[in-house]
Amino acid sequence: MLAPAGRVAMVSGANRGLGLAIARKLYADGYGLSLGARDPVALARVHAGMDRARVLFARHDAAELDSGRTWVEATVMRFGRIDALVNNAGLLRQFTVAQADETALDEMWQVNAKAPLFLAKAALPHLRASGSGRIVNVSSLSGLRVRRTDFVGYSMTKFALIALSHALRQEAWADGVRVCAFCPSVMATDMAGGMDIDAKSLVDPRTAANMIATVLALPNSASVAELPVNIFAEPTW
Ligand SMILES: NC(=O)c1ccc[n+]([C@@H]2O[C@H](COP(=O)([O-])OP(=O)(O)OC[C@H]3O[C@@H](n4cnc5c(N)ncnc54)[C@H](OP(=O)(O)O)[C@@H]3O)[C@@H](O)[C@H]2O)c1
Repeated sequence: MLAPAGRVAMVSGANRGLGLAIARKLYADGYGLSLGARDPVALARVHAGMDRARVLFARHDAAELDSGRTWVEATVMRFGRIDALVNNAGLLRQFTVAQADETALDEMWQVNAKAPLFLAKAALPHLRASGSGRIVNVSSLSGLRVRRTDFVGYSMTKFALIALSHALRQEAWADGVRVCAFCPSVMATDMAGGMDIDAKSLVDPRTAANMIATVLALPNSASVAELPVNIFAEPTW
């Protein structure tokens, strides 16, 4: 496995939910961290116990494409390198085809698909330079199969993120970059609030963070392209 010490990882949406759990896990593992969130002051408060020598708290609003490029530049200025990118920030808006709402769809398209593409574009030269760059795109089982009709817009954006993951892994493979689409079922975060599922069945975000940390640390010779995580006995396609 790759030793985290000296490696630098960027995590979007690092202020709550899965992103918070990933940030804590990667910090504990010894990574240098560039954490992104819409409100960097609140982000720094959430992670107040972290050693500032090893962590950058950056503003990243996935609704503004330029904010990804600025965040990558700030990360390189601070650490001189980027070894991993976790595209975690995401948005769920529920509607069926009959209720389809263009504004809600565009919001999700921007945050769930476009922002990861342009963040990866900005980070790619640095990930290639690493020789063992890693990208984890947090998609969803809703990016692999359709189970709820009111998730149509969300699924469309998460399927798109899977497509991005496969294109990226082929484009940058020769330079040691490995890309994984992480596809969990329902996790115990704010996003799952209101879903009628027994809380004990949900994926604990700390478990998901451990899985992502494992993927990030795999050697170049062991790449996981898609990682579906089930809570029901159901097909993943
Ligand atoms: N929870 C689930 O059941 C589930 C299942 C499968 C996949 N996922 C995916 O897992 C990822 C993490 O979600 P979660 O469960 O942790 O949900 P969450 O608790 O709702 O957190 C969502 C995160 O995304 C951030 N975000 C939303 N819009 C943003 C924007 N415009 N710019 C920057 N950050 C933005 C939020 O920041 P703010 O605090 O500023 O809003 C927050 O940090 C998402 O990609 C989600 O689609 C979740």
